[in-house]
Amino acid sequence: MANTLFDFVGGHSGAWKVVSMNPVAGESLGWVSHLQIVPGTLSEPGTGVWTLRGVVSNLRYTERAEKDALTAVQAGLDRPEATCAALIPIGKTEAWWNLTQDERRNLLENQSHHIHTGLHYLPAIARKLYHSRDLGEPFDFLTWFEYAPAHAARFEELVAALRNTEEWKYVNREIDIRLVRA
Ligand code: HEM
Repeated sequence: MANTLFDFVGGHSGAWKVVSMNPVAGESLGWVSHLQIVPGTLSEPGTGVWTLRGVVSNLRYTERAEKDALTAVQAGLDRPEATCAALIPIGKTEAWWNLTQDERRNLLENQSHHIHTGLHYLPAIARKLYHSRDLGEPFDFLTWFEYAPAHAARFEELVAALRNTEEWKYVNREIDIRLVRA
């Protein structure tokens, strides 16, 4: 079975060098200079300043037509030209988690157009979503993005657009960590 559990180890060595850490909402994390992403099974406890854990999971809200549209255009991780990355750990409010599935889908897409907006930024931005909430982690999600320096401005535009949505009114913790390949 493929590994689905990953550790994001913030410390002083790793494949990614931290460029900036910006607490957008809620408490920040300790400053680190590097990040290493390690399959959960290989992780050695206590190696970094902090470790965030996430699991690759099934889709919750994406409908068939959206999934097909995403699959048709999206790029994979590890493209040689994609030397920039962002790790954005996110926590959502109890109010969000108390909603029902259909209410959350309505907020995420019908009201906030998260998927529709995001689609415009593919394939320039490659992405991967990790779920942390059910692991008892301090964040609900770890979101990971890779892009070429030429697309950095587009990524800023996307992040700004999403932060301006109804969905983001339910975000109570968010740290925007930007990185480059070490
Ligand atoms: C969830 C697409 C950018 C944060 C999702 C989902 C899709 C998606 C399809 C729903 C997955 C599901 O069905 O469970 C995209 C696309 C993007 C993009 C195409 C373009 C690059 C971003 C950015 C952020 C972000 C820039 C953070 C700043 C999240 C979070 C979730 C999510 C936190 C989980 C929401 C939840 O389950 O409550 N995204 N996204 N996304 N995305 Fe994005």
